[in-house]
Amino acid sequence: MDLLNNRSSVSEFILLGLSSSQEIQILFFAIFFLVYVAIIVGNLLIVISVIVDNHLHSPMYFFLANLSFFDLCLSSATTPKVIADFLRKHKTISLWGCMAQMFLVHFFGGGEMSLLIAMAMDRYVAICKPLHYKTVMNRRALIVLLLLSWAIGFIHTTSQMVFTAGLPFCGPSVVDSIFCDLPLVIKLACTDTYILELLVIANSGLLSLVCFIFLLISYIVMLVTIWQHSSRASSKAVSTLSAHITVVTLFFGPTIFIYAFPFSSYSVDKFLSVFYSIITPLLNPIIYTLRNQEMKAAIKRLSSQHLGSWFTS
Ligand SMILES: *[C@@H]1O[C@H](CO)[C@@H](O)[C@H](O)[C@H]1NC(C)=O
Repeated sequence: MDLLNNRSSVSEFILLGLSSSQEIQILFFAIFFLVYVAIIVGNLLIVISVIVDNHLHSPMYFFLANLSFFDLCLSSATTPKVIADFLRKHKTISLWGCMAQMFLVHFFGGGEMSLLIAMAMDRYVAICKPLHYKTVMNRRALIVLLLLSWAIGFIHTTSQMVFTAGLPFCGPSVVDSIFCDLPLVIKLACTDTYILELLVIANSGLLSLVCFIFLLISYIVMLVTIWQHSSRASSKAVSTLSAHITVVTLFFGPTIFIYAFPFSSYSVDKFLSVFYSIITPLLNPIIYTLRNQEMKAAIKRLSSQHLGSWFTS
């Protein structure tokens, strides 16, 4: 802590938020509040259904529940403060709060990215190597893939934050967004940040671009495989895959825009950060539950079994 304060004269940043108009901020407060509640309820429903419902004890649903858990964490790293800030005239965040936000967003974001790849691998084995599915995707492989996701998230964020946390800031300290994010904060450092900018472009931008292309190709291979062996189960498989492709696009689209070209234009960045802090975590449960009969049935069972007894007791 002392190390940072000695080198920085800035101890807090000012967030500009989305609008300076009081009325619009109150409107945003209401919208963000409702969306955040929906994120918590929707994702918790998925996690609880998968844990309690025996019908959903398969690798795909375990991954889905873990994805929902990442979504909850990712959104909670920024959204509560964003919501409170809509009601504050001066939106400030301490230097350490800012660093913590960036660390957490990239920790859970990197974890989610790895998990989306693990989910694609799971579907790939199920569709292209169905006879080996039970032996390949066993309990141990599942745990290893989950631990890997956490580890990759940690390595991803740490490799950027060790350099960012040491930057000197001597003003100006205005971040034109609703929460701290790497490109915006690095831009404020009073030192040459060229190497760090390259690191962020490679580590966040290029990495997500490569993962996205890799994922798209693997989903295309799976779709082609399904069409070649069109069978009774194929329409269900296609609908599962299209849900996955939608989620992958929603997650990677904004990320690639923000980090692959981060230091040239910032004007759209703050709207994109709205996207991946509240839109994606909300859409994931909607996409998976609305398009998935098993998930819908599980939530119905859950609500009739458990909610019923809560309300009557
Ligand atoms: C993540 O997946 C594992 C299966 O290996 C499961 O036991 C666990 O409950 C899941 N976690 C969450 C939060 O759903």
